[in-house]
Amino acid sequence: MKIAVFGCGYTGLTTAVGLAEMGNLVLGIDTDAAKLAALKRGRCPFFEPGLDKLIKRNLARKRLSFSSDAERSILDSDVIICAVATPRGRRNRADLRAVLKVAGDFGRFMAGGTDAYKKNQKLFINKSTVPVGTSEKIRQVIEKSFLSATKRKEFIPNFSVISNPEFLREGTALDDFMNPDRVVFGLEQASSHSSSKTKIEIMLSKIFRYDDSVPIIYTSLRNAEIIKYASNAFLATRISFANELADYCEKVGADITEVAYAMGFDPRIGHNYLQSGAGFGGSCLPKDLHALIAHGKKAGLNLRLLKAVKHINDRRPDRILEVLRNELLKIRGKKIAVWGLSFKPNTDDLRDAPSIPIIRALLKNGAKVHVFDPAAMNKFRELFQTKVNFGTSATSILKDADCLLILTDWREFGTPDFAKIKKALRNPLIVDGRNCLSPAEVQKHGFKYLGIGRRRA
Ligand code: UGA
Repeated sequence: MKIAVFGCGYTGLTTAVGLAEMGNLVLGIDTDAAKLAALKRGRCPFFEPGLDKLIKRNLARKRLSFSSDAERSILDSDVIICAVATPRGRRNRADLRAVLKVAGDFGRFMAGGTDAYKKNQKLFINKSTVPVGTSEKIRQVIEKSFLSATKRKEFIPNFSVISNPEFLREGTALDDFMNPDRVVFGLEQASSHSSSKTKIEIMLSKIFRYDDSVPIIYTSLRNAEIIKYASNAFLATRISFANELADYCEKVGADITEVAYAMGFDPRIGHNYLQSGAGFGGSCLPKDLHALIAHGKKAGLNLRLLKAVKHINDRRPDRILEVLRNELLKIRGKKIAVWGLSFKPNTDDLRDAPSIPIIRALLKNGAKVHVFDPAAMNKFRELFQTKVNFGTSATSILKDADCLLILTDWREFGTPDFAKIKKALRNPLIVDGRNCLSPAEVQKHGFKYLGIGRRRA
């Protein structure tokens, strides 16, 4: 089966590469000429471990190619996968323009080809994160643009819209795609739920060749759309829960990391997404949480819990500043060395990264800020230019600093050379905004350690 994937961002490109790796013929479509040029040379246009190698391998095997020609790809493909961005739009709702453009092109270009579409069923699989009801809108847009392109009054070609939300994380995108915890397909017609598969289910299992251990969930379009938002909102809720409890632990002389660790052994709770600190960032959790609140409001609901989750997260940068201010008394004139800029490790992504508001506030308060990140330096330079000093290594920014502040838990920051740090800092203070160090270990080396929600020594 020939597949065209629209959008070569984290989700689209990982999907294209993953499906090619599974043996499909895949064409990646994007409008960005520079991105396409890099991809055709076998280079991943963004930082994502492991992707480069598989792009090259599948280009060489001729299973993967890239183009900007939407029309040709729609005519030639049996399956269209829509993985374009749905950024924060008006009133925090998801901006669906790119998704609906792909849908419109699908209807229009399908009409211009041979008559093959009359015989063969095509699939329009949406992977972009969209609010409930969008898949139905996608069908309407496809039908409308088909009819207006053919000047017909009826005949609607044989196609199905499928909602297939993606749960991959940046930094581990390929592994998440190839070995998912679950795969969700929202279908227009309810699944038979019997052991015999429908025609569409058979087509899907030929495209997404997962082994039998992967749970495949067939559900309605609307359920599938909500499952995506609900999953991200729930992860965000866990993090804000841990952060709110962290503040309580700190006030009453307890340690959130020990509390969360013990809680996590309860199989009903689990350990994931309970790490407290600077809060959640990235292109998804904050955006999807905002969108769910906004779409809830549109449906006449006040989603109070989710608003609290957002509020707690919005306050995390202030919390970090409060810790610094309490310790340093005044920030003006102090040199702060910052380790970690990206919103999480293993990515250079700065979208909604907590480092941005924290460093802005430090600068506003008169601090001299020196930064280092293993991957995000170039992107950070575009944002802050000469307002901060950029180091060449983690240790290069420490000389005479009044504090080392950790904002991203990159693995390499977890096992630093404490003797070197101690020698370089003017004031032996480490503020661990991700709770990634062991207080006992840090204190053993003669530092004052301040985590978030951890007992003060
Ligand atoms: C998130 C979801 O985890 C994916 O399942 C989803 O597919 C993706 O959004 C998406 O919608 O595309 P991602 O944005 O890559 O993935 O980020 P996460 O790994 O979930 O981390 C989000 C933020 O939460 C980071 O800033 C991280 O540092 C923070 N975090 C995470 C915590 O503060 N504490 C934790 O315990 C875990």
